[in-house]
Amino acid sequence: MTNVTQIIIDTDPGQDDAAAIMLALASPELDILGITTVAGNVPVELTARNARIVCELCGRKDIKVFAGADRPLCRQLFTAEYIHGKTGLDGAELFMPSLPLQEKHATDFIVDTLMGNPMHTVTICTLAPLTNVAMALQARPSIAGRIRQIVMMGGGFSEGGNVTPAAEFNMFVDPEAAEIVLHAGVPITMMPLDVTHQLLTTSERLDRIAAIGHPAGRALAGMLRFFERYDIAKYGSEGAPLHDPSVIAWLLKPELFSGRHCNVEVETRSELTRGMTVVDWWRVSGRPHNAYVVRSVDTRGFFDLFTERLARLAA
Ligand code: RIB
Ligand code: CA
Repeated sequence: MTNVTQIIIDTDPGQDDAAAIMLALASPELDILGITTVAGNVPVELTARNARIVCELCGRKDIKVFAGADRPLCRQLFTAEYIHGKTGLDGAELFMPSLPLQEKHATDFIVDTLMGNPMHTVTICTLAPLTNVAMALQARPSIAGRIRQIVMMGGGFSEGGNVTPAAEFNMFVDPEAAEIVLHAGVPITMMPLDVTHQLLTTSERLDRIAAIGHPAGRALAGMLRFFERYDIAKYGSEGAPLHDPSVIAWLLKPELFSGRHCNVEVETRSELTRGMTVVDWWRVSGRPHNAYVVRSVDTRGFFDLFTERLARLAA
C-alpha cells in the first residue's frame, strides 16, 4: 500500500484550483480530509459552491467542503473576475451542486482536524490567500507545532508579480495573513510564480485533457481554455500557468521540482510593494530559513503526471 498523505486543501476556485482539486481527487496517495474555501478569486459564497461542483464533477460527493473567511484579515477583498469570470469557473457548464456545504466554519475545521489527528500527520495545501490558515493559527496557536507541512502556491521571486509589478495574487490579497503563516514556524514549501510560469497550458496539452473521456476532463478543458485567454492577451504567452496543481504535484512527485531553503518575508506596509515576497535566495540577510522555495520544475514530467492522473477519473 503506498504511503497515504492526509491533506486539507484550502482553495478559492478558480479554474487552476479546479485542476489542482481534480489532480488530488485522482491520486490515491492523497487522503483529502476536507476542502476549505476562502474569498479570493471570487467571493467565498462562490468558491464554496465551486469546490463542491468540482468534487461532484469527479463523482466525489463524499468530500467535505467548508466555507471560510469572506474577506482578508484587515483589508478590503480584491477579487479576480477579470481572470476567472463572474462565476469563478467560467468556461464550463456549471450546476447547483447537491453535495452539501458543511456547517462548521473552515477555520474551526482546520483547528479541529489538527487537534484531532496525531502530530505531524496533516499537510495543508494552500491554493489561495492565506486568510483561513492565519485565522486558524490565531485561534489556536498550538496547531503550528502539529502541522506536518504547508505547501503553498504564492509569491514571486525574479518573476515579480501578476497583480502588481511586485505582488502575486494570493500574497497581494492578504499580506497580513501571509506574514502570520510565514512566521508561524511551520515547515513550508512555496511554489512561486517562478515555477508556475514554467507550467503553461498549450492547446495540445488541453486537447489531452479534453480527450480523457470523462465529464470532469471535458469541463476542465473548457475552464482552462477560458482561464488562459487572459494570460495569452497579457503576456503573449502560449497558454496560462497552471499555478495551483503544482502544489499537489509536489506531494505526488517531489523529484519533479528543485529549490532551496531560504528566508521569505512579505511586504505589508508599503502600498507600492504590498504583498511582495522578498526571497533571500542567496541567503545574504541572515534571517531564518522559513521556507523551501521551489524555482524549477520538469515541465514535461508535470504534464505527464497531470494527464495520467486525470485519466484515472474516467477509469
Ligand atoms: O497568482 C495565482 C494564484 O492566484 C492562484 O492560486 C490562482 O488561483 C489565484 O488564486
Ligand atoms: Ca487559487
